[in-house]
Amino acid sequence: MSDLYAKSDIVDVISSYTTLTERGGNYWGLCPFHNEKLPSFSVNREKQFYYCFGCKQGGNVTNFIMQTENLSFGEAVEFLARRAGLPMPQMVDDMRFAQIKQKKQTIAQMNKKAAQYYRDALYSPKGTEALKYLKNRGIGEDAIKLFGLGYAPDEWDSVAALLGKEGFSQSLINESGLVTVKDNKQYDMFRGRIMFPIINAIGDVIAFGGRVLGEAVPKYLNTKETALFNKRFNLYGINILRKQRSAKSAVIVEGYMDVVSMFAHGVKAVVASLGTALTKQQALLLKRYVSDCYIAYDGDEAGETATKKAIDILETQGLSVRVIRFEPGQDPDDFIKKHGLSGFAEKVKAAPGSVGYKLNCAEAEHDLSTEDGKEAFAIEASNILSAIESPITRERYAEQVSKKTGYSQTSVIGQMQKKSVNKNISTSNRYNNTLKGDNTDAQTAFLSYSMANTRYFEKASEDLTAEDFLTQPHKNIFSALCECAKRGIQPTYAEIISELEAQEDRNEAAYLAGIEVFADDPSAYLEDCAKRIRVNKRKAERAELFAKLRGASGDEKRKLLADIGRIDKELSEARLNE
Ligand code: GTP
Ligand code: MN
Repeated sequence: MSDLYAKSDIVDVISSYTTLTERGGNYWGLCPFHNEKLPSFSVNREKQFYYCFGCKQGGNVTNFIMQTENLSFGEAVEFLARRAGLPMPQMVDDMRFAQIKQKKQTIAQMNKKAAQYYRDALYSPKGTEALKYLKNRGIGEDAIKLFGLGYAPDEWDSVAALLGKEGFSQSLINESGLVTVKDNKQYDMFRGRIMFPIINAIGDVIAFGGRVLGEAVPKYLNTKETALFNKRFNLYGINILRKQRSAKSAVIVEGYMDVVSMFAHGVKAVVASLGTALTKQQALLLKRYVSDCYIAYDGDEAGETATKKAIDILETQGLSVRVIRFEPGQDPDDFIKKHGLSGFAEKVKAAPGSVGYKLNCAEAEHDLSTEDGKEAFAIEASNILSAIESPITRERYAEQVSKKTGYSQTSVIGQMQKKSVNKNISTSNRYNNTLKGDNTDAQTAFLSYSMANTRYFEKASEDLTAEDFLTQPHKNIFSALCECAKRGIQPTYAEIISELEAQEDRNEAAYLAGIEVFADDPSAYLEDCAKRIRVNKRKAERAELFAKLRGASGDEKRKLLADIGRIDKELSEARLNE
C-alpha cells in the first residue's frame, strides 16, 4: 500500500487546498486551519509531513485529509485512493498498525477459548489425574478458580480443532502459540500438561505455562513470543496483584507454582518473572502497583545470583527491596507448605534490606578467622556501603563491619570515599556533550533525534519508560517508537505519526520531525538525553513528595522522607545533579 503514499505526495495533495511556495527546502503557505496573513504553514516533501507554526497542527497526508475534509481515518484513506485513481486499498502502511492491534485481540480471544477448554478438561474425566496432582500439591478449589488453572489433555489436535470450529483463520491459529505446524498439519502445543494461563493487568489471557504431571522434561513449556506475548514485559500474577488495592509490597518468586501455592496459603500479593531473569520492564510494571518488594527466590545458588541481579534492577527503578532466602533445595512453595503463613511472616519480618543482604553474602564468602579474610571482607563491605547515601546509615553499617573485622570505622569509611572519588573521575567526561537546559529540551531532543535516527532508539530507550516523559504527547510518541522497535520496524515519519491516535500527539510529532538535531556520537548523545530525562523526572517526583511533606506526620512523614532519601540517592548516583 505504499502505492497510495507514492501517488499521494503530500505537497501535491495540500497544494489543492492552499498555495505553496518553496523556500529553504520546505514548502510554505497560508494555513488552511487558521486565519493568517503571513504563511506559517510548512510542508516537508522529503519527510511527508506538514506542520503549522502558528496553530501548531501537524501530521501526515492522511491526517491532513481527515482534518480538512472532516473524515475518519478509513474514509480519508478511501478519499486519497479515489483521488489517486487507485482501488480502495486492502493494506495500507497506516493500517499495518491497526492490523497488529487486531491480531493481538484475536490471539487474546483464542487464548480465552483455550483457557476455558483447559479448565473444563480439568474437571472432566480426562482431568482426574491432573486435579489429583494439584490437590496433592495443596492447591485447593479457590486457587484453581482464581488462577484459572486447567489441563491440556494428552491429545494431538483438540485445541487446533476447537479454534478452527470457532471460525478463527488458520493463519492466525498458527500464530497464536497454541499450535505447532509440522508437515502442513497442526498439532496442539500443550499436551498432557497442567495449564497456567498468564493474564495481563487488564485481564487478557496473553500466554500459557504448562507443567508436566510427573518428572518428564521439559518440566515447563511456555508460549513462545507472539504478537501478544513478550515475556520480558509481563509478570505472572500481576492481574491478581492489581486487585489487592491496599497492598504496599509484593513478593517476587521464580515459579508459577510458587505464586499459586503462596496465594493458597494466604500470601496475596505475589508475582513471578516468567522463567527469565527479572527485567527492567517487569520492575516498572510492578512499580505501578507497589512501592516495596520482597525477593523470595529459590534457595539454591542460581537463586542467589538471580537475587543480586534483581536487587539492582528493582532499586534502579525506585522500588524498595528486601530479601528473603531459603535453605538450599527449598523454594517458597516448599517453605510455606512446611512452615505455613506464620512461618513466612517471620521471614518477612526478619528480611534484610539490600545492603544488609549483600553484606551477609560477602561475609559468607570470606573466612573471618584469618587476617586476609577480614581484610578482603572489609574492602568488599566498604564497596557495598558506598552505595548508601545517608551518612548515618553508612555509619551504622560501618560500625558492624568494624566489629567483625577489627578495622576501624574510619578506615572502612575512608576506603569507601576513595572508591567514590574514582567513580567520579571515570564518569565525568562522558557528559561533555550533555544538553544544557531543562527537561523539555532533553525530551524534545531525544524524541526528535530518535525519530530521525530510529536505529539508535532501541538501545537508547532501555532505561526509559513513557512515564518518564512529562507531557501526554511525548509519552505517546515515545510509546509509538517503542511499539515500532518491538516489532523490529524502523519506521518512517509518516508511520510514526500514523501510530498516534490523538491529533494533539500528531501535532507534536510533526513539530518534532521538523527540528534538526545533530550529534557527533549518536549513542552517547541519546544516552545523555535519556539520563537527563530520568533525572528531571525524579526531581519532579521529589518536589511532589516534598509538597506532601507539609501536612504529613508520623508514619506517613517517615515514609515520605524515606522516599525522598531514595530519590536523592538515585540522583547523586546519576551524577547529573548540577
Ligand atoms: P514446580 O517444580 O512445579 O514446583 O515448579 P516451580 O514453580 O518451583 O518452578 P521452578 O523453580 O522449577 O522453575 C521456575 C520457573 O522457571 C518456572 O515457573 C518456569 O517459568 C521456568 N521453568 C522451569 N523449568 C522450565 C523448563 O523446563 N522449561 C522452561 N521453558 N521454563 C522452565
Ligand atoms: Mn517448586
